[in-house]
Amino acid sequence: MASSAPVAIVTGGNSGMGMGIVERLVTKGWNVAIADINPNAKFAEQLGDAASFFKCDVADYDSQAQMFQQVWDRYGRIDALCANAGIVDKRQIMSNFKGVVYGTQLAIHFMRKNSTPGGKIVATASVAAIVPHETYPEYDGAKAAVVNFVRATARILKDKESISINTICPGIVHTSIIPQEMVDAVSPDCMTPVSTIVAAYERCLDDASLFGKVIECSTDKQFELEPPTLANGHYSVRAVTVWEPLFKMWVVCPDAMPD
Ligand SMILES: NC(=O)c1ccc[n+]([C@@H]2O[C@H](COP(=O)([O-])OP(=O)(O)OC[C@H]3O[C@@H](n4cnc5c(N)ncnc54)[C@H](O)[C@@H]3O)[C@@H](O)[C@H]2O)c1
Repeated sequence: MASSAPVAIVTGGNSGMGMGIVERLVTKGWNVAIADINPNAKFAEQLGDAASFFKCDVADYDSQAQMFQQVWDRYGRIDALCANAGIVDKRQIMSNFKGVVYGTQLAIHFMRKNSTPGGKIVATASVAAIVPHETYPEYDGAKAAVVNFVRATARILKDKESISINTICPGIVHTSIIPQEMVDAVSPDCMTPVSTIVAAYERCLDDASLFGKVIECSTDKQFELEPPTLANGHYSVRAVTVWEPLFKMWVVCPDAMPD
């Protein structure tokens, strides 16, 4: 039988911002599936029955698919995906971008089966997705891809699947992804607390009218960022306007897409 409480998957839920999101959702009465590549037995234990750990590598489609299936088997519903896992390493394009793409594909599949089809997806990008940080070009690219992916899918997901997708762009947050030396080098007033990220996640999960939003989270503030514009007016806009036959070939019948 399906759980009576709403169910969220929080990837990267065993550390940093993910922990904050998990704790907040548990407090609000959600059942939370913590999906992380690294276990954190103490954390899951202190949350009691409302949270469970599912080992998962978001960079690997099969690993995410297995985790979604286990969560579905346990709760019989999936109301939200908080696609928050991220890292700075050699696999960062796979974890930080493809992890969000795979999660979205799987969320669509399982959210269609909810008793009321649909749900919410929130992904963690970064301010470096908007203004690149020259120290991490590959990270910037992966996070910018998350922002563009969210903007590209939001309208269709809302209209066809009743799924709202949004993304959060945090500034510097003191978590294990940031070396202590860097935290020491940044003046405290430029740091963003985990609570700002949690508040933005909460807003996206609570407010069904929000979709396709890119939300900069900086210090204690949230800002909705406008989509960028092209310089050559309708001539350039035409290049990014849907042409139905191509849309059908690539989105409706993806098997027709060249390998
Ligand atoms: N801390 C910052 O300043 C900052 C700023 C902007 C964006 N971000 C993003 O915020 C998100 C959360 O990071 P954080 O700062 O809380 O860092 P964190 O290291 O504390 O937490 C990240 C979590 O993701 C998990 N993870 C990493 N790769 C994974 C994978 N392939 N599959 C499953 N789980 C995986 C880790 O085990 C960890 O529990 C990330 O997407 C990160 O890129 C962080």
